[in-house]
Amino acid sequence: MAKKQKHDLVVIGAGPGGYVAAIRAAQLGLNTACIEKEKALGGTCVRIGCIPSKALLEASERFWEAKHHLGSFGVEVDGVRLDLAKMLKKKDTVVRANTQGVDYLFKKNKVTRYLGTGRITGPGKVHVEGQDEVELEVEHILIATGSSVAPLRGVELDGDRIGSSTEALSYSQVPEHLVVIGAGYIGLEMGSVWSRLGSKVTVLEYLDRILPGMDSEIAGEALKVLKKQGLAFRLGTKVTGAQVNGKKCRVDVEGGDPVECDRVLVAIGRIPYTEGLGLESVGVELDSRGRVAVDEHFRTTARGVYAIGDVIAGPMLAHKAEDEGVACVEHIATGYGHVNYDAIPGVVYTHPEIASVGKTEDELKEAGIPYKKGMFPYSANGRARALGETDGRVKILADEKTDRILGVHIIGARAGDLIAEMVAAIEFSATSEDVARTSHAHPTLSEIVREAALAVDGRALHI
Ligand code: NAI
Repeated sequence: MAKKQKHDLVVIGAGPGGYVAAIRAAQLGLNTACIEKEKALGGTCVRIGCIPSKALLEASERFWEAKHHLGSFGVEVDGVRLDLAKMLKKKDTVVRANTQGVDYLFKKNKVTRYLGTGRITGPGKVHVEGQDEVELEVEHILIATGSSVAPLRGVELDGDRIGSSTEALSYSQVPEHLVVIGAGYIGLEMGSVWSRLGSKVTVLEYLDRILPGMDSEIAGEALKVLKKQGLAFRLGTKVTGAQVNGKKCRVDVEGGDPVECDRVLVAIGRIPYTEGLGLESVGVELDSRGRVAVDEHFRTTARGVYAIGDVIAGPMLAHKAEDEGVACVEHIATGYGHVNYDAIPGVVYTHPEIASVGKTEDELKEAGIPYKKGMFPYSANGRARALGETDGRVKILADEKTDRILGVHIIGARAGDLIAEMVAAIEFSATSEDVARTSHAHPTLSEIVREAALAVDGRALHI
């Protein structure tokens, strides 16, 4: 007989949405447990997503810099060599520090952790199967099971040569030719890593643009910069199949010659992970796209069952899941909790970075919202010149009448850090004039943001 335990809240899944929700719930005084089937906590983000990819992006950028960029600063480096095994080991160390960090936070906040697979068996009942065999009786159930790799018809992932980002984080050799299917977040980040380390990288994208959903002007600029770095793009290309032939792979595309390569990375998106959760036992309904349907307080169609993160609608981003997790448990514990979906940034960690918050210019046009636009290039900023980072621009879109900032889109060095100011600006309903009148330290890249805000009113100072 399995052990029985009682909790106020059980969170299923310890990714950034789930573990953060569990910590916040415990802070608010709820007796909280979290079920995770993987030994290491942190979910896709920490184990096989955001964290290891950033470790490799950072490392590969250092390698590329030493080889191609430091000379321009008068720093001559001879005999630069790649020790891939060491680079991968360093990445694993970074991941371990983060997963162990979540263990520590659970202990500190007295969140009970169950190692196993959670399945809802009835109202207020969850069965844990695995190392910890337990029957839980709980008041609230929070589903935070995230997403898994979207399959592509005709392409069978063999877990080696044809794989997802998980495999692409650990290739033991630099592929001679890597084909990436999908020019989204993963395709561009992992494509950049292997290109910097020496692979020929070909990105096959179904649409006639990269980064769908991002501002199209900024995405166009990104395409130019990435091409300059050596990545090859074939847009408007539909992949119909991929096969392994010995040490080579063949990727078939509609209306064109097949592409030969050594490895294939499939990065065409992710799908909500709801398998085996026992949703039917309590009547949790899914929407037409297989996502758990929730209301504005993350309540599913079953009483006492909530869902957040990749498993519900919205962008599949770690920080969106975190924000939802916090809002959800705050609402459970206090009756208040809210996420402002207009102020959720998106960052692609290529070099340069691409960052975005709020409405794109395309969305404003489509909605017929009159707007003003201010742009400022990195090339006109003193610090950017000193850094050797003159590619890129900041674009601010503000309401034509009220001047309220509606969207900000940046491509350029450290865009992911610069966007934070504009997320706060949108959160506080700031106008472009508010940002333009705010002092920005000189000489910093943040001055580009201020200049773009000045440019909304046609009064940029340094161009
Ligand atoms: P994505 O949705 O960002 O991009 C998928 C791309 O594949 C799209 O451009 C799409 O048009 C293309 N595509 C779809 N079907 C195709 C086909 N048959 N042939 C060729 N192209 C096709 O998905 P991705 O890159 O797989 O990332 C998954 C999720 O992970 C995303 O939702 C993203 O938000 C998240 N993520 C976020 C990161 C970040 O915040 N920096 C980093 C990595 C992933």
